[in-house]
Amino acid sequence: MSLGSVSKNGVLYFSEPSENQFEEEYIKLRTLENRILTDEQVKQLPYLQSHPKSKEWEVRQQSTQKFLEYINGKAFNTVLEIGCGNGWFSNLMAKQNPEFTVWGVDVNVKELDQAARIFKNTKNLRFAYWDIFENHESAPKPGLIVLNASVQYFENINTLLKRLFKIIKAYGEIHIIDSPFYGEEDALKAKQRTIEYYSASNAGNLIPFYHHHVFDNIDGNYSVKKLYNPKGFSIRLKKLTGKKQNPFPWLKITK
Ligand SMILES: C[S@@+](CC[C@H](N)C(=O)[O-])C[C@H]1O[C@@H](n2cnc3c(N)ncnc32)[C@H](O)[C@@H]1O
Repeated sequence: MSLGSVSKNGVLYFSEPSENQFEEEYIKLRTLENRILTDEQVKQLPYLQSHPKSKEWEVRQQSTQKFLEYINGKAFNTVLEIGCGNGWFSNLMAKQNPEFTVWGVDVNVKELDQAARIFKNTKNLRFAYWDIFENHESAPKPGLIVLNASVQYFENINTLLKRLFKIIKAYGEIHIIDSPFYGEEDALKAKQRTIEYYSASNAGNLIPFYHHHVFDNIDGNYSVKKLYNPKGFSIRLKKLTGKKQNPFPWLKITK
């Protein structure tokens, strides 16, 4: 395959598909967890009714809405979603601002193919297979990078950020949403829970691919702002009303 120029099933390739076991094991577990959705369901996201995962998506509606409001009217020009999966969020960002060119990239061919199939009519949206640690001359140079529920698949947060600041335009913004960050001790406990869960789900091969990031370990040279803090006073107050609040922080990271 000649990389970058060829699109297979509407997906561009900026790296050779990896031979590691990630995709196969990941899709197997996602299927078991009822997380592989039909085209019709993906089109409705973040709204998913009468489905075992409906409750999970209810809290994701909150982060989606806040993020779309944030990017509204901003001049980011090129937007990159890393770990776009089935593409629903990349599509919403593209629809939110027709001036953007939005790129959804992932290393999971099955869902990239689904994304390209479902959202082929969104003119300012592209999907690519890209291991972002590999250089490619046609790869996007974004003003905004977002990782939505995907940062936990990157081993080292600072290695990742260093790379992203190489890819992004000067003064660009990196946003991380819908992923857990822990304190040092909680990260160890969460890691143990993940090992137990993956082992019990017959998905032990995924253990090396899932990482528990410690908030305080983010390189202090970056500016890290919590645009949403699930532990903040107002959110704790809202929880008292009984409405489930999104448990994940929204981080904006700049240089
Ligand atoms: C939980 S899904 C999130 C999908 C989508 N962003 C969402 O919010 O629903 C995590 C995604 O990260 C992708 N991923 C894992 N490792 C990756 C990597 N090294 N580069 C790009 N994507 C990766 C997975 O294939 C998967 O599609």
